[in-house]
Amino acid sequence: MSEAVRFLLNGRVVEARGVDPTRTVLEYLRGDLARTGTKEGCAEGDCGSCTVLVGEADGAGAVAWRAVNSCIQFVPMLDGKAVITVEGLAADAPHPVQQAMIDHHGSQCGFCTPGIVMSLYGRAVGAQGAGAAVDEVLAGNLCRCTGYGAIIAAAGAVVPEAAPDVAGALAGLTRETTLDLSHADPLHGVTRRWLAPRDLDELAEAVLAHPEAVIVAGATDIGLWVTKQRRPLETLIDLGKVVALKRIEPRDGGVWIGAGVRYVDALEILAGLYPDLGGMMRRLGSTQVRNSGTIGGNIANGSPIGDMPPALIAADATLTLRRGAERRDLPLEDYFLAYGQQDRQPGEFVEGVFVPVPAPGLIFKVYKLSKRFDQDISAVCAAFSIAVEGGIVRQARIAFGGMAATPKRAAGCEALLVGQAWTLDTVESAALALDEDFTPLSDMRASAAYRS
Ligand SMILES: Cc1cc2nc3c(=O)[nH]c(=O)nc-3n(C[C@H](O)[C@H](O)[C@H](O)COP(=O)(O)OP(=O)(O)OC[C@H]3O[C@@H](n4cnc5c(N)ncnc54)[C@H](O)[C@@H]3O)c2cc1C
Ligand code: FES
Ligand code: FES
Repeated sequence: MSEAVRFLLNGRVVEARGVDPTRTVLEYLRGDLARTGTKEGCAEGDCGSCTVLVGEADGAGAVAWRAVNSCIQFVPMLDGKAVITVEGLAADAPHPVQQAMIDHHGSQCGFCTPGIVMSLYGRAVGAQGAGAAVDEVLAGNLCRCTGYGAIIAAAGAVVPEAAPDVAGALAGLTRETTLDLSHADPLHGVTRRWLAPRDLDELAEAVLAHPEAVIVAGATDIGLWVTKQRRPLETLIDLGKVVALKRIEPRDGGVWIGAGVRYVDALEILAGLYPDLGGMMRRLGSTQVRNSGTIGGNIANGSPIGDMPPALIAADATLTLRRGAERRDLPLEDYFLAYGQQDRQPGEFVEGVFVPVPAPGLIFKVYKLSKRFDQDISAVCAAFSIAVEGGIVRQARIAFGGMAATPKRAAGCEALLVGQAWTLDTVESAALALDEDFTPLSDMRASAAYRS
């Protein structure tokens, strides 16, 4: 039994003992370690003022750095990883990113500034992918007073070479210590239990033995259950150490994406198969959310407004569930039974999703409608997969999020398309069937009429 979580904080090993496993990284940094440079704005992943960089061994001897929202990550998720906070940047003089913010008047009250500095620092050290666009990197950082012009000007003044070697030094340190940092046994908090199985079989055993446990992938949903809903979570099973779930593999006719694969790691391959899906994924949450959140979590969560299910249903994806040693596959759309109810048995977990390669000539479009371009949950998400041969519609798979209690196919609309000539008249009459297919709700995101 281990009660310690070990990680590197700005280059030094921290051993967190007896910490409640659902204590957030932000609470721990500020409350326990007095690292108050990292701020709390919203505690729900929206504002980015809590942004820190988390580095993880990438399996090839290097460290992959990602900017994440520390307010919705739990302390045990740091085990064996490295963290850089804003305190780790400046030594005697401001770091070049901070200096650029000063020079370009990018800070007024300063509350958002540490988070913005960390996002820009992440960009400077290549954490968000080489050459990531400034607006993409900053979409998850809100500022109430400065206005973004000055911040974007500061961002433009930071050249990648300006990054000091903190990341390099940490990478070396992490290479030497990461393997030792991982504790071998389940972590038990004071009142709650955090299980961190190290492989797929251990995970299957743990989920079977604790069917009531909450499975934690990226915690971008679960984090809010704790910070906003104050839900007491007694037993948690972390997928973070199960390498097999982080695999993306080409398989016959498509690509397999393990349930632990984060958006950031799946984006390129999915965008290569379905460019429009890539476009939608770049608008899903923010850089910080995509750096933590998984596709498996988005599916398993079963939200009617999750963005991946409509697109993956239109793409005819297959879900694999595992219970003990047994696996079963089902068409993704069959997983969603009713509001808040999925076809997942006690002791079962989502192992991955298979996404087929599109047939040549397939028309595949995804539309995400939300009030803000980035970092906003959809009012409606619609995905269309249509095959036309010789002017006739041979296949139509159309799926919507936000239009029903589950992500759902537009059966009536599809039926009026298949076998018909691909003309405007056909499309317009099929579109009328959407009124029969769906009776959407009015809520804070949109009225029923707007959704229709
Ligand atoms: C600021 C912000 C913006 C967001 N924007 C969007 C958006 O634009 N579009 C969108 O769709 N979502 C959005 N989300 C929601 C969230 O990011 C996604 O749903 C994400 O994919 C969840 O993945 P996760 O790995 O973080 O899941 P977690 O929070 O770890 O888990 C989510 C649920 O899935 C279960 N679960 C996870 N993995 C498994 C598994 N392998 N087997 C069984 N159960 C499992 C968990 O027990 C839990 O019930 C946003 C969230 C935040 C905080
Ligand atoms: S405090 Fe707002 S994103 Fe974390
Ligand atoms: S400077 Fe005040 S919130 Fe950004």
